[in-house]
Amino acid sequence: MSAAAATKKKIVKKAVRTKDLLESNNCIPEAMITLDGDPLTCYTSWATNLPSETFEWVWTLFEKNMRLIFLILKNAAGDDVAYCHYRIDMDHDYAVIYCYEIQVETEYQRKGLGSIIMNVLEKLAVKLGMDKMMATVFKYNIRSLNFFRKIGFEEDETSPMEEAERDYLILSKEVSVL
Ligand SMILES: CC(C)(COP(=O)(O)OP(=O)(O)OC[C@H]1O[C@@H](n2cnc3c(N)ncnc32)[C@H](O)[C@@H]1OP(=O)(O)O)[C@@H](O)C(=O)NCCC(=O)NCCS
Repeated sequence: MSAAAATKKKIVKKAVRTKDLLESNNCIPEAMITLDGDPLTCYTSWATNLPSETFEWVWTLFEKNMRLIFLILKNAAGDDVAYCHYRIDMDHDYAVIYCYEIQVETEYQRKGLGSIIMNVLEKLAVKLGMDKMMATVFKYNIRSLNFFRKIGFEEDETSPMEEAERDYLILSKEVSVL
């Protein structure tokens, strides 16, 4: 790691540990109002510290606005062990199943669950007549990149160009009859 990157890493670590991030960095304007004059307030919080009603509201709004569909895997005991939230959507004239996030419980990783989830979604994509499967992955998430590459995803034509300062890649896999 370069010296510059090491310095940046320290900044990131410190920021992640800081309580009251907005206040201590003096980022909250004295007055915040909507364009039609309603006063606003704001705060940041770790997800785990959010009041439960706010956490619930965040998810409700997110799901409503994103029109997400969840696929959940359960183990034999009925515990939830992995999920993917995805969308059936149009992307640049292509009909796609877009995987927004896939998460596997730590002790279940590298046991084929992620592959199973994406297989089910690919089967669905075939049945629905979709053109491709898509996912956006942060460049630094090497494990996730490896995963998607292993199951046949490649960089999509719409992925930002190498020259552009990009921290994510758009990956896709053409859907073929299984
Ligand atoms: C990335 C993730 C979804 C993969 O799911 P998984 O169930 O662990 O993956 P699988 O067991 O189906 O792995 C299939 C292949 O992908 C690759 N792969 C999966 N996890 C990997 C890892 N941590 N490092 C390197 N390669 C990995 C391997 O080639 C693997 O095949 P192998 O085990 O035979 O070598 C899962 O590890 C996860 O939830 N990670 C944390 C959250 C995350 O990064 N999610 C993606 C954000 S969109």
